[in-house]
Amino acid sequence: MKPIYFAPLQGYADDAYRRIHAELVGGTELYFSPFIRLEHNKMRNKDIRDINPLYNKGINLVPQILCNSTKEFDILVNAIADMGYKHIDLNMGCPFPLQTRHGKGAGILQHPDAVEEIMKAVGKRNDLSFSVKMRLGQEQANECLALLPILNDAPLAHITVHPRLGIQQYKGETDIETFRRFYESCKHPIVFNGDILTVEDIHRTETEFPNLKAIMIGRGMLARPSLAAEYVKGEEWTAERRASLIKNMHSRLLEHYSSIIPGEMQLLSKMRTFWEFMEVEIGRKQQKKILKAGNMKNYMREVSNGFH
Ligand SMILES: Cc1cc2nc3c(=O)[nH]c(=O)nc-3n(C[C@H](O)[C@H](O)[C@H](O)COP(=O)(O)O)c2cc1C
Repeated sequence: MKPIYFAPLQGYADDAYRRIHAELVGGTELYFSPFIRLEHNKMRNKDIRDINPLYNKGINLVPQILCNSTKEFDILVNAIADMGYKHIDLNMGCPFPLQTRHGKGAGILQHPDAVEEIMKAVGKRNDLSFSVKMRLGQEQANECLALLPILNDAPLAHITVHPRLGIQQYKGETDIETFRRFYESCKHPIVFNGDILTVEDIHRTETEFPNLKAIMIGRGMLARPSLAAEYVKGEEWTAERRASLIKNMHSRLLEHYSSIIPGEMQLLSKMRTFWEFMEVEIGRKQQKKILKAGNMKNYMREVSNGFH
């Protein structure tokens, strides 16, 4: 049995989602925050709020940062350590061109010198532990192999690998053979991440890679929030039980977002995110109706129709 980690998902798995997920179903050992970056040399209020310990009670949260220089690293790490966190994840996988073109996220994978600088900074912080979340490369799969000597020398708790390239974003084939080479040559514990949608996918992955430290799941958890719990407890949930969980999570999230989002249209667009990856659970037709509802009244009607 491998621990399951909840992947960072910007715009989806925010503080409210994580808290409500942990309270109603759980099954995931760690939750990772969406990446935190500097804007004009400061952390954004939205990001500070997302990892505020007050809003993350009862869950094991690992804040994730995105940077490509030790200057930014120091500002971010000091601020997060001041909030009481002891483990920080380093984003080396974000595929958005806005970040990669500045050598950040997956873009840093093409700059071994920048990775080395950051790893030196990691080595100086004995008070904290660090992990890395990365892809195989930005443009070529062997970029991760070229970085191995630098990564192997750094004191990392683990490395999470999503076996795609930055330029693929979240689509196309995963490259399991290059993942295997990295997994076999990396001296740190490896966490597998990518395209896990079912309990069978988890079992297949842990059988194929028995030395994994954990399995990290993103979209599969949004699609089926009970996935980790079903695996951990070794029981498959019925469609009724899954629907009841989704209904409860939805009403808790609606209650929460209604209290902090003033406008109907803004609230609607936030609530839509809850359904975006749920096609398999609620069916394409119903999902479309929910996503297309133009006002709250129609939205609530379609949500309720989704459970008949
Ligand atoms: C909408 C969305 C937002 C994401 N935000 C982040 C992020 O903030 N940090 C990060 O490291 N990865 C982020 N990812 C990548 C996921 O954590 C994960 O690596 C990827 O979705 C592959 O795993 P999955 O197939 O289990 O979803 C995001 C992915 C999606 C689809």
